Amino acid sequence: MLRPMAKDDRQPVLELIRATGFFNEAEIQVATELIDIYLNNPDQRDYHIVVVEDESGNVAGYMTYGPTPLTEGTWDLYWIAVSPGAQGKGYGRQLVNWLEDRVRESGGRLILIETSSQPKYLPTRKFYEKLGYAEIARIPDFYRPEDDRVIFGKYFRSKE
Ligand SMILES: CC(C)(COP(=O)(O)OP(=O)(O)OC[C@H]1O[C@@H](n2cnc3c(N)ncnc32)[C@H](O)[C@@H]1OP(=O)(O)O)[C@@H](O)C(=O)NCCC(=O)NCCS
Repeated sequence: MLRPMAKDDRQPVLELIRATGFFNEAEIQVATELIDIYLNNPDQRDYHIVVVEDESGNVAGYMTYGPTPLTEGTWDLYWIAVSPGAQGKGYGRQLVNWLEDRVRESGGRLILIETSSQPKYLPTRKFYEKLGYAEIARIPDFYRPEDDRVIFGKYFRSKE
């Protein structure tokens, strides 16, 4: 089941982000800030967060996304993470498919996802490629020397 994140999900979501072992403290802090903006400001429209539950009702994954400011029909997938024990079972695909449906419904044209070129992110890049995303831009040495910012994107046909 996929649903909007609620206040009670805060702890489980932060735990799963940490449990992935993928993110450093600064990244976890940014993820937490976005979660708190979302949970504490019901009127804001920049960040949306959904969680996916496993068959026992536990939070298996989460995703933060939103319309990219100052664009027409471009959306950013800011964060996605699936709990290590739940990876490889289709939850990540479910989250991204759900976002694509929302983007299409709203007449969106493009979803962008930023990631790092570090070898540790190779599985993540394979995951995006499997879902039909292609590398459309790269900024060499962006995060640090020899760590590029890699931008994956997927275009959607606009409704005529
Ligand atoms: C990346 C991540 C969100 C994927 O979620 P997931 O639930 O494990 O992925 P799914 O089970 O939905 O996989 C979807 C497809 O991607 C493929 N895929 C997933 N991980 C893969 C990997 N390591 N290598 C190759 N393909 C992979 C799957 O085979 C699947 O294809 P299929 O349905 O044809 O079999 C999850 O592994 C994760 O949280 N990783 C750590 C955090 C992270 O990297 N977040 C993104 C930060 S930029």
